[in-house]
Amino acid sequence: MNMYKASGNLVNGWYAAGLSKSFKTKQAKRVEIFEIPIVCWRKEDGSVVALLDKCNHRNVPLSEGKINKDCIVCPYHGWTYDGSGQCVQIPSEGPHTDRIPNKKVKYFPVIEENGLVWLWMGENKNPDRLPFPMPTMKEKGWHSYYMTTYFENNVTDLVENFMDVPHTIFVHKGWFRDRKQIRIGANVERTSDSVLVSYDQSNDAIGFSNKLINPKNLPMKHTDNFYMPNNTRVDYIYGAEERGFIITSTCTPIAPFSTMVYTLISYKFGWMTLLAKMGLNSYTRKVISQDVWIMKLHGDNVKKLGQADYRSTQCDTMHLYIESLRKAATNGEAHPAPIAKEIEFWV
Ligand code: FES
Ligand SMILES: [Fe+2]
Repeated sequence: MNMYKASGNLVNGWYAAGLSKSFKTKQAKRVEIFEIPIVCWRKEDGSVVALLDKCNHRNVPLSEGKINKDCIVCPYHGWTYDGSGQCVQIPSEGPHTDRIPNKKVKYFPVIEENGLVWLWMGENKNPDRLPFPMPTMKEKGWHSYYMTTYFENNVTDLVENFMDVPHTIFVHKGWFRDRKQIRIGANVERTSDSVLVSYDQSNDAIGFSNKLINPKNLPMKHTDNFYMPNNTRVDYIYGAEERGFIITSTCTPIAPFSTMVYTLISYKFGWMTLLAKMGLNSYTRKVISQDVWIMKLHGDNVKKLGQADYRSTQCDTMHLYIESLRKAATNGEAHPAPIAKEIEFWV
């Protein structure tokens, strides 16, 4: 069974196909989502269109062809399709457009928003929701940038990694959080389509330099949220939103152990913002590369040994909730009942 079919209701969502700036007019861009090859291009009016990357004639990838007047021309015999997937010309039929077989190439609804191009992957062509609201933070004082990262692992284990605190003192030792064996309490809540974690540890210190982010030692509010089917948002907010650091990730599954992750880093560091801008990019790159490393090791092992026998402790509660929501969607079952739990662990 291909990945699309095996993913059940998980396909009913908006999946990022790439950063807006990577879609150019007159340039076909091929992406793969749930193992489905898709060709996208930007039309002269600025809108992006997306078709199944498969010519109706002999199934050749259209993405190898050229864009001509907002249409894509198959590289094999030149059948030409508009952005809706309608074949508008078959060169070997000369002027006889009436001889064009009446089958469209499948198209995907597209929305361009918050710096990303999103494709609706649902079976039903009418999307029943909007793309995940990436917090690009237009408010004064906030800045943001995207990172695009390829991971050799699956979406479930990746979103767990993005929501995971205990690994930070090992995988990101000396970079994100140091080991002090301090107790962390958290409230973990599962709704019908999200897992919300709020930590009660207001004096936690993360990152490059706590002095940089939080020189006044304002109390920190840390929340880690997962939103079905493929998004996570980690917030560190200091004081009454005087300063903040938000890491939002949306995962696009390419194949079972192959995922593209679009990470939006949003930050507001007061008068340190400009200074932070310089160091933040290489810092966040370094941290994410450490996750790429551990998630590849993990994925390679899971491929060989499976994952049915995971053992979990309290700090894995949010992961179990994420797994339960994604599994129910995969199997087309009703979502598990909402639940909330207080947990504690030590980092
Ligand atoms: S395969 Fe596309 S035109 Fe023949
Ligand atoms: Fe990490």
